[in-house]
Amino acid sequence: MTERAQLYKGVIESWKKYLPVSKKTPVITLFEGNTPLVRAFKLEKKISRDIELYLKYEGMNPTGSFKDRGMTMAISKAKEAGAKAVICASTGNTSASAAAYSARAGMQCIVILPAGKIALGKLTQALMHGATVLAVNGNFDEALNIVKEIAAKYPITLVNSINPYRIEGQKTGSFEICRHFTPDYHAIPVGNAGNITAYWKGYKEFKTAGQIKSLPVMLGFQAEGAAPIVRGYPIEKPETLATAIRIGNPASWKQAEAARDESRGLIDMVSDEEIVAAYKMAAAFEGVYCEPASAASLAGILKLSKQKYFSKRAGSKKAKVVCILTGHGLKDPDRAIKVSAPLVTVKPELKEIMKHVRLAR
Ligand code: F0G
Repeated sequence: MTERAQLYKGVIESWKKYLPVSKKTPVITLFEGNTPLVRAFKLEKKISRDIELYLKYEGMNPTGSFKDRGMTMAISKAKEAGAKAVICASTGNTSASAAAYSARAGMQCIVILPAGKIALGKLTQALMHGATVLAVNGNFDEALNIVKEIAAKYPITLVNSINPYRIEGQKTGSFEICRHFTPDYHAIPVGNAGNITAYWKGYKEFKTAGQIKSLPVMLGFQAEGAAPIVRGYPIEKPETLATAIRIGNPASWKQAEAARDESRGLIDMVSDEEIVAAYKMAAAFEGVYCEPASAASLAGILKLSKQKYFSKRAGSKKAKVVCILTGHGLKDPDRAIKVSAPLVTVKPELKEIMKHVRLAR
């Protein structure tokens, strides 16, 4: 008999040694994780001679975002504890992931969204997976306050990233990167600040376990109109076209600052224009289509390299920079259409079509 290939079994099965699970934990998985780490050769040429640039394409998770890494843990642990229902506030991706994993677990899922500020793809996911979806006339921060109150009063488990199991699951992203190499710099968008917290925890734990020798410098990026950590105070009315990170008072604010300070990194902000430029570049030059919020990490690297951040620190070897691209571009088709040239309609004739085709030389 021929040997069978070892099948990938998802985040919990792959990293259970590092996760708070036991044989009793019912593993609810959609085989999340194991996402591509793509070397961005063309972007490197454009950005800096001093770096090797890698894109961790988290949009390739089952529901199209990094949230699945945390959700497999949060839902499995909720199931283990006998929960019948879960709830979250969301800018979209958390709700898509919570709805999918709840469907798989046979649990009820309630999601509260800021009205009118959810990318279309994400909304379709929550609806299709059978969640109870409610939009509130308020922003994410207000929605999160309400779900916290509900979870405190009713037998419903909160699955936002203040649920520690979410952070546990999400830290596996660091482990995956370190299977290839230990990055010198780790760039990541910051919204509610759970993911930067999770990655930093993962790196530190991997170092303690003797799996890596050094730690990366953590570089977090917020959108200019929603940059409470950069500005040092909560933003009452956050605004950015990167709706996923349209957050004015991040729940893991302190932990994000700790990741920044312990790693001697920084948390900076990028404008919507810079986000859109990076969003288009990743798709057009590297074939990696991410959503606008994800591109905040790449936009941040572009900004820093213009300020000679990497050349000032350049050693003998090129620095390895990993950008976390947190969600798939298909999540937000409206934005893609808005930033692209309008579609040209022509007669179905060869001559007509070739008038519009410019062949590369
Ligand atoms: N990128 C994407 C695509 C996101 O959906 C989020 C957060 C972030 C980055 C920021 O991550 O919050 O851990 O700092 N989305 C949450 C949601 C808030 O409800 O889907 P963070």
